[in-house]
Amino acid sequence: MDFKKEIITFLAAETKLAQEEVETLIAVPPDPKLGDYAFPCFKLGKNPKTEAEKLQAAIHKPDFISRIEVAGPYLNFFLNPVILARETLTEIYTQRKFYGKQDLGKGKRVVIEYSSPNIAKPFGIGHLRSTVIGDCLYKIHSFLGYTVVSVNHLGDWGTQFGKLLVAYRKWGEEKELEKDPIKYLLSLYVKFHEEAEKNPSLEEQARAEFKKLEDGDKESLALWESFRELSLEEFRRIYHLLDVEFDSYQGEAFYNNLLDKTITSVQKKVPTTLSEGALIVDLEQYSMPPLMLRKSDGASTYHTRDVAAALFRLQKYKPEKMVYVVGSEQKLHFQQLFKVLELMGIDASKYVHVDFGLFQFPEGKMSTRKGNVIFLEEVLHKAINLVKDIIEEKNPTLHNKEDVARMVGVGAIIFADLSNDRLRNVMFDWDRMLSFEGETGPYLQYTHARACSILRKAEQEQETGVGPYVNFSLLDQKEEAAVIKQLQIFPEIVVKVLQTDKPHHLARHLITAAQTFNEFYHACPVISDQKDSMKARLLLVDCVRQVLENGLHLLGIDAPEEM
Ligand code: ARG
Repeated sequence: MDFKKEIITFLAAETKLAQEEVETLIAVPPDPKLGDYAFPCFKLGKNPKTEAEKLQAAIHKPDFISRIEVAGPYLNFFLNPVILARETLTEIYTQRKFYGKQDLGKGKRVVIEYSSPNIAKPFGIGHLRSTVIGDCLYKIHSFLGYTVVSVNHLGDWGTQFGKLLVAYRKWGEEKELEKDPIKYLLSLYVKFHEEAEKNPSLEEQARAEFKKLEDGDKESLALWESFRELSLEEFRRIYHLLDVEFDSYQGEAFYNNLLDKTITSVQKKVPTTLSEGALIVDLEQYSMPPLMLRKSDGASTYHTRDVAAALFRLQKYKPEKMVYVVGSEQKLHFQQLFKVLELMGIDASKYVHVDFGLFQFPEGKMSTRKGNVIFLEEVLHKAINLVKDIIEEKNPTLHNKEDVARMVGVGAIIFADLSNDRLRNVMFDWDRMLSFEGETGPYLQYTHARACSILRKAEQEQETGVGPYVNFSLLDQKEEAAVIKQLQIFPEIVVKVLQTDKPHHLARHLITAAQTFNEFYHACPVISDQKDSMKARLLLVDCVRQVLENGLHLLGIDAPEEM
């Protein structure tokens, strides 16, 4: 039973407001003392308090509501705690891993582009952010009924490949390349920039090399292909650790032979001009620098390839929406791209840049050109190893140690990322991130494992398993009510992530749910001689376990049963 929906329906009927309007007005009060839902009455007349009183008198209170109170301009609804407990826990118990699932997006397709690392360069922390945020949005959209296409727009084309080809031909060795491809290619890239300082003609050679590549020179293409394959192999190791997959790896290079067609399509709808030999779309009247479609030497640009990709995706997938999960430093790039798409007559509601701030390391900023980078794979392994040490210390007899260490180490990093509003910069802090207390992934996983262990213990010691037929009126402690409330609003929170493209709403919700659960656990003994109370509480524990598992999975984090 969807209590909120029921309340919205009778409020809409009573106030003559549209359902949608009531839905945007109704809210969960910050303080549970003010009820489960609050409806502000400002829209109903000059004196909202009188309006609230009138409304209160007019409503025929349904059974699932225990009281309706006027508090200033608000009408507050208090749900009947027994019905709330029964409906919520029964639903979780029967729906299990589908609790929270909806078909809001039925028949609608969304293309989500994320990760998109650059070939021949290390997989950076920005790409990690894009990967985990994108993967979470992918999961949320699928859970809510959308058909989702995930695209990894690999940075596998561009002038930097001209530089690499020049560097590799001058100084490269195959044996070295195969040993540790990305590190080696990076060192060549760094060397190129050092040498180019002394010898600027190298830049010229690199431009010519890239042009050759664009024109399909066989030998250059073969070399490029091997750089791409070797890099992808490394990226795939990271995706494997993170457990993410993509429907498409069509990167920038894929659009190479669509570029002329793309430029023609743009020109049909939007005026272009030549500026010092380069073909541009002037965006001055929108207070933006021009979008360059073709360089003076005929080469394409990052922008051209993005216009081509957008048109291609629109045509191929016919999506309701295209989502780009890319760092905030590319904001202007996407504003320009979107402006050109809009000028081409494509509805602005069809594309959105989901941007995010920096993940900062205490070690300081990174620069690929200077070779000063942090390798993500090393970061992930460091997290896993630190967790291994913690397990050795705290729970040395645990089986599946390796697996659990991976789930917890990787989960800690994912959670540290997703628990902050994506627009904010995050400071990377090993101790805080890996702590089993506080607002961390391991804390959630630990709470989940604790719930699992209570259930195991009940079964072993008391031979009492979980079942849905319990006396719900026994769950009358305030700690129990607080937990049930958190479980009940889980589906709403999932929708909130969809509406805002912000996973932290879910991450924070899970933290609150885990905290209320731990308070309950300290205040109320679960396993006891009072069989009826034990059964009711075991059901509650099982439901918490389930919601934590569902929520963690939506964030892309595993939930081990023991740790
Ligand atoms: N490869 C780019 C980078 O690492 C990110 C690609 C973003 N997506 C796009 N459609 N431009 O900076």
